[in-house]
Amino acid sequence: MSEATFDPTIYNTSHNTTFDSILDTRFSRRKLLSSGSGIAAMAAFSTVGLSACGGSSSSPNTSSTDLTVQPSVTELGFQSINGAKLDAVVVAPGYKAQVLAPWGTPLNDNANPWQDDGTNTAQDQLNAVGMHHDGMRYFAINGSSEDGLLVVNHEYIDQNALHANGKTVETINDIETRTLVDEIRKEIYAHGVTVARITKTNGTWNVVKNDPLNRRYNGATEMDVSGPLFMSPLLTTKYSPDGRVARGTLNNCGNGYTPWGTYLTCEENWPGYFVNTGERTADQDRIGVGSDATRYGWDQLAGDPTEQNDEFARFNITPSASTPSQDYRNEANGYGYIVEIDPFTQSRAIKRTALGRFRHEGCEPRPAVAGEPIVFYSGHDARFEYIYKYESDALWDPADANRIDRLAVGEKYMDAGTLYVARFGEEGQGEWLPLTLTSVTLSGDVLGDSFATQADIILNTAGAADLLGATKMDRPEWCAVDPITGTAYMTLTNNTRRTDDTNIANPRLNNKFGHIIRWDEKAGTAFEWDIFVFGAPADGDSETNLSGLTDLNQFASPDGLVFDSRGILWIQTDNGASEVKDGTNDQMLAVIPSQLTNNQNQQMPLRASNQAELKRFFVGPNRCEVTGLAFTDNNTAFFANIQHPGNWPFSNDATQITPEGVTLRPRAATVVIEKIDGGAIGE
Ligand code: FEO
Ligand code: CA
Ligand code: CA
Ligand code: CA
Repeated sequence: MSEATFDPTIYNTSHNTTFDSILDTRFSRRKLLSSGSGIAAMAAFSTVGLSACGGSSSSPNTSSTDLTVQPSVTELGFQSINGAKLDAVVVAPGYKAQVLAPWGTPLNDNANPWQDDGTNTAQDQLNAVGMHHDGMRYFAINGSSEDGLLVVNHEYIDQNALHANGKTVETINDIETRTLVDEIRKEIYAHGVTVARITKTNGTWNVVKNDPLNRRYNGATEMDVSGPLFMSPLLTTKYSPDGRVARGTLNNCGNGYTPWGTYLTCEENWPGYFVNTGERTADQDRIGVGSDATRYGWDQLAGDPTEQNDEFARFNITPSASTPSQDYRNEANGYGYIVEIDPFTQSRAIKRTALGRFRHEGCEPRPAVAGEPIVFYSGHDARFEYIYKYESDALWDPADANRIDRLAVGEKYMDAGTLYVARFGEEGQGEWLPLTLTSVTLSGDVLGDSFATQADIILNTAGAADLLGATKMDRPEWCAVDPITGTAYMTLTNNTRRTDDTNIANPRLNNKFGHIIRWDEKAGTAFEWDIFVFGAPADGDSETNLSGLTDLNQFASPDGLVFDSRGILWIQTDNGASEVKDGTNDQMLAVIPSQLTNNQNQQMPLRASNQAELKRFFVGPNRCEVTGLAFTDNNTAFFANIQHPGNWPFSNDATQITPEGVTLRPRAATVVIEKIDGGAIGE
């Protein structure tokens, strides 16, 4: 979410050891292609193309064992473009951009066409594309680059755009109170995930209305729970006394995917959707569950009394009965997870609790290697929060990439494993600290002295990480793993509350512009890291513009971060810093990190000497953020999301400027970027 809507009251205030401020790392650079298992990784996922309809088991490639993979693209084939501030997207010369699947696009005949007066109903929204698109992935059908399933997260809502005249409230007992059931349902249904069949016909991409695989997962959809919280008393509610299910997914921000062809959606700023007006539990206090009001006031209405499901009252988690099975004190315990969805079947979504419970921004897999654990990285996006890694107990069997019971494969790799949190040490060394009952804390006891079960640790993941001395980061957002080198990159978007406590990995006070950190896995729980690039305004002084950026690539608040199959790193921004915002809207830049080497073939960060390798490719419309990126397997179509635009899109051509004097009801949308000559993007 943008700085403007981020809840400033939520940030980690626990006090761990900090480090001296430094402006650059001091250790010697890592040699390219020296990172062990990461190398064997390679671009095994880029060709995942499963058969959707008809039950065929056409399969993705299994992981390669080729240890000599070289980047297929060594140079970007476009020139950096100027910044822009328009009610239109801007793409590099030779490219075009089309609007696809904007908010409200009907997925089936149960939804009326989108109305620009905001009068669509909750029932329409239940059957249409959600609002505020974010993380996303394209799943090819039968390997096609013109026919696939686009799976899109919908992070949050703009009530002014969603409803004809904004939200309806009445003042009751001096409190602004929501009064219309249909409005609240529409808001809940506008959250979540869309699965939409998309095809390209006659040069244009379209949603295939009524495709049997089209569907929505929203803030009210019943989902299964697996891993340590499965049937835990911590999940007992009046609706689910045995703790077997949870209702809904909310604030779906970044995404992930798996080597077996499923989609992962990540629950980010969920705590604000709940309120506990009584005494908060330790985990509610640590994560910042509301104490006086919910984000959108959903808890203020009872909903449909004939349903007997406490449709909206469940968002008020204040204990109201004598036992957890009679109220909703545990309702929020069903949120904060990585959720797995099989795009190719109409199956239920599964909350994979072993990967921790916090504000998950994204969930990035390392490329799978036969005989080694499956690894995911996930950042907790709030100020001073942590970076996590999950490692499966089960070792990767490449045959699992071909199975059609994909959620059973997910159970094998995602329900049993070890969750770690990162400590960034001096001299570029780092350590993954396991979050288990026997893990030794900073004070010399073990987590088992503070937590009774692994489920308790998961419920308050961040609280457990505090005890281990994890490194407080500047809002970890997306992670991406280089398919060429195996190096993992993560955006640290900004942290303007860092006023007196820098550490070696977050070296700037009042970090308005953010940076990108990266690491290589080493033996055991060790890693090596450095800072890849610092965001900054081009005219910043040398202590601010640490990477020597210019007007052609200045950026702030890096957020979305994705490697394509060729080793090109795409950086998306969600910038609230006026120093850069005055020069350009949010944008997407590209660089090929594996090509940034010195004469000893060591990986180099972006600095003044090589900053020109970072090129601006795309600029979004006014007031938007650019987030979410997906590709067809042959890289001829890129899908990027425009979230919370101001006065866009005017037409199906995403580059068409909204005419002066025209005021639109803004619609988040996917933009399809293609080369006019049909070639691969970026080459
Ligand atoms: Fe939803 Fe951290 O951005
Ligand atoms: Ca955002
Ligand atoms: Ca952000
Ligand atoms: Ca984000």
